[in-house]
Amino acid sequence: MTLQLKAIPDSHVDAFFEMMNDPTLSINSGSIPLGVDRAWALNRLSERRQEEKAGTRVDRGLYDGETLIGIAGWFINEEDLMEIGYAIHKDHRGKGLATRAAAMVVDMLRSGDYDGPIYAQYFKDNEASGRVLEKLGFEPDGSTEGMSAARGGTSPAWIVKLPAIDEGQDA
Ligand SMILES: CC(C)(COP(=O)(O)OP(=O)(O)OC[C@H]1O[C@@H](n2cnc3c(N)ncnc32)[C@H](O)[C@@H]1OP(=O)(O)O)[C@@H](O)C(=O)NCCC(=O)NCCS
Repeated sequence: MTLQLKAIPDSHVDAFFEMMNDPTLSINSGSIPLGVDRAWALNRLSERRQEEKAGTRVDRGLYDGETLIGIAGWFINEEDLMEIGYAIHKDHRGKGLATRAAAMVVDMLRSGDYDGPIYAQYFKDNEASGRVLEKLGFEPDGSTEGMSAARGGTSPAWIVKLPAIDEGQDA
């Protein structure tokens, strides 16, 4: 297995669409509605590129060779904090891939000289995601009501934080 985070080109929209059009994925995301179509997927890829140009987000495909098996990236959230997110295609879960993808995003940020705290949020019923973040050293930092398009409203969520490099050294 050769894992890489790479930009998703429009030519991979069908694989991207198929991955996004999965209720077990959207239900645990913030902004992916239940049941999307190919046009939604194309538009999503385009929006993400615009946000990357604006400096507010980097979203990548998790590829095993040329096969798209997940997504992972960072964004500046509504509180102006650095947050990461990820999802793995339903056929590839339970093999440590989310942990590896999230670690690659943290490495991307740290090697890009971002030393500050890194946040993540997960719905309280999404224990697998909580475990991924715990394995990477994220620590509890409160709770919130997270918006979920697929759930049609907010749902209780945990906030976790990977300390800033300095904070980590002082602790
Ligand atoms: C959550 C998700 C990303 C996990 O992906 P994954 O590749 O299966 O994750 P990993 O294999 O790296 O790690 C999962 C960990 O959770 C554990 N786990 C799985 N299901 C669990 C459950 N129901 N309760 C508690 N722990 C669970 C696994 O045992 C593993 O921990 P371990 O290594 O200590 O055994 C994946 O299920 C997914 O894409 N879900 C939909 C989208 C999503 O939830 N994204 C995250 C939004 S915050």
